[in-house]
Amino acid sequence: MIGPASFPLDPAVHDTVPTPMTARRGAALKGRVRAPGDKSISHRALIFGALAVGETRISGLLEGEDVIRTAEAMRRLGATVRQEGGGRWSVHGVGVGGFADPAEPLDFGNSGTGCRLVLGAVAGCPITATFDGDASLRKRPMQRVLDPLARIGAKAVKVGDGGRLPLTLAGARDPIPIVYEPPVASAQLKSAVLLAGLAAPGETTVIETEATRDHTERMLIHFGADLRVEPHGSHGRRIALKGQPELAPADVAVPADPSSAAFPLVAALLAPGSEVILDGVMTNPLRAGLLTTLREMGARIETLESRNEGGEDVATLRVRAGSLAGVDVPAERAPTMIDEYPVLAVAAAFARGETRMRGLKELRVKESDRLAATADMLRVNGVEVEIAGDDLIVSGNGRVPGGGHVATHMDHRIAMSALVMGTASEKPVQVDDASFIATSFPGFADLMRALGAELA
Ligand code: S3P
Repeated sequence: MIGPASFPLDPAVHDTVPTPMTARRGAALKGRVRAPGDKSISHRALIFGALAVGETRISGLLEGEDVIRTAEAMRRLGATVRQEGGGRWSVHGVGVGGFADPAEPLDFGNSGTGCRLVLGAVAGCPITATFDGDASLRKRPMQRVLDPLARIGAKAVKVGDGGRLPLTLAGARDPIPIVYEPPVASAQLKSAVLLAGLAAPGETTVIETEATRDHTERMLIHFGADLRVEPHGSHGRRIALKGQPELAPADVAVPADPSSAAFPLVAALLAPGSEVILDGVMTNPLRAGLLTTLREMGARIETLESRNEGGEDVATLRVRAGSLAGVDVPAERAPTMIDEYPVLAVAAAFARGETRMRGLKELRVKESDRLAATADMLRVNGVEVEIAGDDLIVSGNGRVPGGGHVATHMDHRIAMSALVMGTASEKPVQVDDASFIATSFPGFADLMRALGAELA
């Protein structure tokens, strides 16, 4: 557990007593809201701030459990991290390769992103650190990250069964630059290798067959690293990073998280008569697959204003309720909406016709087996659903009976998706435990209620 003198965590997440929550159908949703800061960018801002020499100032940081864990890890590795209020944070970094041996284990709670990115950052430093997490994170694969980090020179001196947490990593004394082709489309894996490569002399190259979210690349450039990105094949990229830069501190304004905005967005599509405006949503093309898919389904989502904020595309979106039609979602779109499938499956359940979501193998290793958890969430609420290989097939007829009790398996996105379903289904939907929502979207229930949703 995290020791004292650290940042406030949400007691609900650590309570052994689960917190059930129920959503029921109510009036139309109306209003204008901003989802909290993007989780991916928040983790990276803290990590890059800790690797830069001098002070990085961050605004709009997501103050959810997962990110707080990363802030704490940066502090334990030697950076000075201050929470200044209102989402503003300051990080005094120690420079590339400058982390110190942490006195205590690094506890990443529920967060695969925090854990895997920091594994990469530690791999390039001559230190030893122990990584741990909650019961969900302890089930998730870490070997996929340890393999390339071993080639760079880091050694897992202690590791749980099947390459799982808790594990102890001894970073490389003389990190070796590598050329690496990730076997799975994973931004976490790519980022871990690039973070380790920062400390290596020469060029570290990652070749992706399928491009994944590029926040690490954008932020490396923002902090002054020398990075070249070229197209590779039909959907991929070749990323070359020149090692041992001196990263310069840089201000980061975190845009609203599209993966969190997805919940009020889909809820607004489903409740008849709804009209909701979502402010400051990041629309980076490598995160925008849900918008593309919902528009193909006939969703009324307008871009009212778009701009660039701190190197990321951001837009104000207006969403209006309307009928949706089933679509075929190609596998190559998966990396651009990997976290949005549970809530897309909810939209598909209310649509007319079949929605086939292809190539979802990676969903099996998220905070839960999200492929199974999504199918179960729909099934217990009277929706016809099938898993065929790595595809999820939802047959919608425009209405969802509801009335189900959903097992969330410590997975925030299953909890929020099920509650969104309950705002429009005929009978209420209950989740067994809403506490994990605080890992990514503190204030979710209040934001939904502000729009008129009935959550209790
Ligand atoms: C993330 C990458 C994705 C995503 C996660 C955040 C990131 O994971 O599911 O929520 O910030 O890099 P994978 O890289 O395992 O696909």
